[in-house]
Parts: sequence; C-alpha cells; structure tokens
Amino acid sequence: MNIGIHDFDVATTHYVLKLDSMAEALGVDPAKYQLGLGQDEFSVPAPDEDVVTMGAHAAKRLLDRNDPSKIRMVLFATETGIDQSKAAGVFVHGLLGLPTAVRTVEFKQACYSGTAALQTAVNHVARYPEDQVLVITSDVARYAVDSGGEPTQGAGAVAMLVAADPNLVVIEPQSGVFTADVNDFWRPNDSSTPFVEGKLSLDAYLDATIGAWDDLAARRDLNVSDIHRFMHHQPFTKMARKAHTKLAEHVGVELGSELIEESMTYNRRIGNSYTASLYFGLAAQLHGNEDLAGKRLGLFSYGSGSVAEFFTVVVQPGYTEHLHPENVAESLDSREEITFEQYRDLHNAYVGESENYETATVTDAPFRFTGVTDRVRQYEAR
Ligand code: HMG
Repeated sequence: MNIGIHDFDVATTHYVLKLDSMAEALGVDPAKYQLGLGQDEFSVPAPDEDVVTMGAHAAKRLLDRNDPSKIRMVLFATETGIDQSKAAGVFVHGLLGLPTAVRTVEFKQACYSGTAALQTAVNHVARYPEDQVLVITSDVARYAVDSGGEPTQGAGAVAMLVAADPNLVVIEPQSGVFTADVNDFWRPNDSSTPFVEGKLSLDAYLDATIGAWDDLAARRDLNVSDIHRFMHHQPFTKMARKAHTKLAEHVGVELGSELIEESMTYNRRIGNSYTASLYFGLAAQLHGNEDLAGKRLGLFSYGSGSVAEFFTVVVQPGYTEHLHPENVAESLDSREEITFEQYRDLHNAYVGESENYETATVTDAPFRFTGVTDRVRQYEAR
C-alpha cells in the first residue's frame, strides 16, 4: 500500500528581523550571516503567538480543504513545549473543533521528532487505511542573546496530512536511523533557552548524517545516484551544504549543490524552525519550478542529543495541482519587519512563568494566545 503526505500547509510569525539589521547593531560583517550561515532573516513571534497558534493556523489551512472527520490521530511534534503534562496538540484539537474520537499526543526529540511523528502516522495508516493522521511540527527557536545561535533563531509550523494513496509524496518503506548520546544541545526544564556546544553540534550532526545514511544503504539496495534531490535538516542553510559535502565525500560520488539548492529558499527567510525545518525544506523543493513527478527525494532529519533518520519519498503524478505555495508566500511576505532593538525588547519580555497575565493583541492570525488565567494557558479563535 502507498502511504505518505497527502497535503500540507504552513504558518509562521507576525514579525521578521532582517539579519542585516542584527549585523549592523552587533558590528558583525553581514556576509557572515548571509554566506557563512546562509541566512537572510528570521521569524519572531509576537507576544500572542506560540507553537499552538502557529500549529493551529497551519492545520486550519490544511483542514479547510480536507475532511476532518477522517482524522483519527493528531501528533504534535515540538521541542518548545508549553506544558510538562498536557500536549500542545490538545489545545489545537480544541481550537480546530476536531471530533472527540481522536488520539492526540506530543512527540519530543529536539528537531527530529516531526519525523518520528510522520513515521508513526505511516504505521497507523498501514493498519487502518481509511484513517488519516494530522501531523503538526511547530517550534520557536529561541537562543540566549549574544550567543552563537542567536542569528540562527526562527519560528514556524508545518502541518501534514498522512493518508493512503497520497496526492503529494509516498514515503518509501525502510529508512536509516541513528542514535548517539551526545550533549551538543539541550534545554533543561528551568531554562527558556538551550545550552549549546556549537562546534560539537556540527560534528554530531555530520556523524549522524553518515550513520543514518549507512543504515539506510545497508537495509536497502540504494545508491545516492538513485536520489534526485536531497533535503537536509536546516538549523541554518549552510549546515545542509556541509551535510551534502560530507555525504559526497563518504560515498565517493560527486553531489552537486543543485541537488539541495531549491530546498533552502524558505529556511533562509524563516530561520531555524526546529521540527518544522526539514518540512519547510520539502515544501520549498515541491514548490520549485522543476517537475518532480515520479522522482525520488532523500530527506535527512536530525535532532540534537542526538537522533537522526534518512528516508526517501517518491513524488506523485499530478502533485502540483495539490500545492499551495501562495500560503507560504503570504506567510513570509506579510510579516512586519522590526528593528534589532524591537526584537531584543520582545526577546527580553518573554514570559515563561505561569502567573496570571494578558498578552497584547498583535497577530492577525486566526488563533491567538491571550495569556494565562489561574495557571491555565488561554487561546482565542477568531
Ligand atoms: P560562530 O562561532 O558564530 O560562527 O558559530 P563561525 O565563526 O564558526 O562562522 C560560521 C561560518 O561563517 C564559518 O563558515 C565562517 O568561516 C563563516 P564555515 O567554516 O562553517 O563554512 N564566516 C564568514 N563568511 C563570510 N564572510 C564573513 C564570515 N565570517 C565568518 N565575514 C555556530 C556558528 C553554528 C556554531 C553557531 O551559530 C551556533 O552555535 N548555532 C546553534 C547550534 C547549531 O545550529 N548547530 C547546528 C547543528 S545541530 C542541529 O542542527 C540541531 C538544532 O537544530 C537543534 C535541535 O536539534 O533541536 C540546532
């Protein structure tokens, strides 16, 4: 049975910061960000936006053109947890008015968990082919000010519908997986920003690229030349180039940069969206000008700590009729540009406590985080 991504849609934040503004304010050569990291700007959440509002927005766009009654499971993948107990997906379930006969749960393993959710969805549909699964990847990458990761921040959500006989891509059986216990990036429960060993994180990512590829190649009769285009997790787009070069060296085959170029166009503008980043890469690749029908794409998913997976998808005939690039364009182009000072004020004003407070009304999105009452997070659908 063919199972895969039937449809997807996206959302990001109200604000955007151009990295040229950050470079000027910090006295850094703008080329370091544009060329050294491969980033142009990043999405910044307004006080009334979070992973729930972005995830619900992306999912609403998707469900407005699909039948929600077929959804049997909602898997919400994030490393920006808003509660230690209740799954963010339950808030989304409520905001979208989904039926009660739905299993909802949250997945976590740094940037990797969206892929774990996707594969879990595939397994569910293999057993219950009439069901559909809503997978939501949504994150806010928020690093400490003046840290190495600060210019690689970002935020966004990609919602995907997994079904049998999908319109967009079939996820092929057998992927390559990799786990290694590494302390390259982690966020303890009492910290709103991660601790990062920057250089170690680069090495851990590249080790995982090779480890996951080798496992994939060992389990399937697959060569890199069988893959038409590659999408690698993009904490910043230069990292995808490093992974691509490393893979080429490892397999001893020349892999041109044209094999990954298209997949980086959205992430250059969004920044790191953690669990959603790889799927913004897939979106950018599918939205490009090239006809990909019948082509195999290779996806490398990485989450610090570290867990990785290399898997392949085959693009379906007629897929372009089911794409909505206008929603990505609208999400990116309608963001309000802020100054470096405004961005820093927003960063410093972040509230991680559960005391009562109300947020200012800023976002135009269909869902708002309105604040906390009696320690309960409050959301509003417009
Ligand atoms: P840094 O010290 O700010 O930067 O740290 P750098 O000095 O290493 O420079 C970066 C690149 O810019 C270098 O290129 C420089 O040469 C170049 P490279 O050698 O790498 O090819 N450069 C310039 N280029 C042109 N003109 C210039 C110029 N100056 C310098 N004037 C670091 C960089 C990535 C460590 C930092 O940004 C960081 O800590 N980021 C956060 C961690 C991260 O993203 N790690 C990536 C792998 S881990 C991962 O992907 C998982 C993650 O998504 C989290 C999760 O899974 O949950 C992060």
